[in-house]
Amino acid sequence: MSNIEKVVQFLDEAGTYYLATVEGDQPRVRPFGTALLFEGRLYIQTGKVKNVSRQLAANPKAEICAFKDGKWLRVAGELINDDNQEVMTAMLEKMPALKAMYSPDDGNMQVLYFKDATATFASFGGAPETFGI
Ligand SMILES: Cc1cc2nc3c(=O)[nH]c(=O)nc-3n(C[C@H](O)[C@H](O)[C@H](O)COP(=O)(O)O)c2cc1C
Repeated sequence: MSNIEKVVQFLDEAGTYYLATVEGDQPRVRPFGTALLFEGRLYIQTGKVKNVSRQLAANPKAEICAFKDGKWLRVAGELINDDNQEVMTAMLEKMPALKAMYSPDDGNMQVLYFKDATATFASFGGAPETFGI
């Protein structure tokens, strides 16, 4: 399994991760659950009406953290908007519950991918494992 596949599998199994953004000098964080591997990139999904979307448009620097079975994952990098509706469709197929709220042409659905990102798996007791994704 490739490194990015390990990251997406961990996020899927954790179910929930926490996405941190920056607003001025204030960190903002909230729970997220969307994760999709598409053409070698890690995508997440949100709505353009949300503050998180506005924050990422102003400053794409972001970090996510998930925890499962004594192990935690952090992915730090930039989250870049992608208007490709194929990715949006793939996201809705992977996470069908989103279909009640979003569609690719609703003007609100947004997918973003991690660019220049570093992933780190860590646990108490073990050495952290870091790689680019
Ligand atoms: C378990 C869980 C998973 C969530 N996953 C997402 C998600 O993947 N995308 C999203 O836009 N909102 C998701 N939400 C809702 C956001 O946390 C919520 O809209 C939040 O207020 C967005 O941040 P903001 O208020 O700073 O814009 C999720 C909420 C929960 C409780």
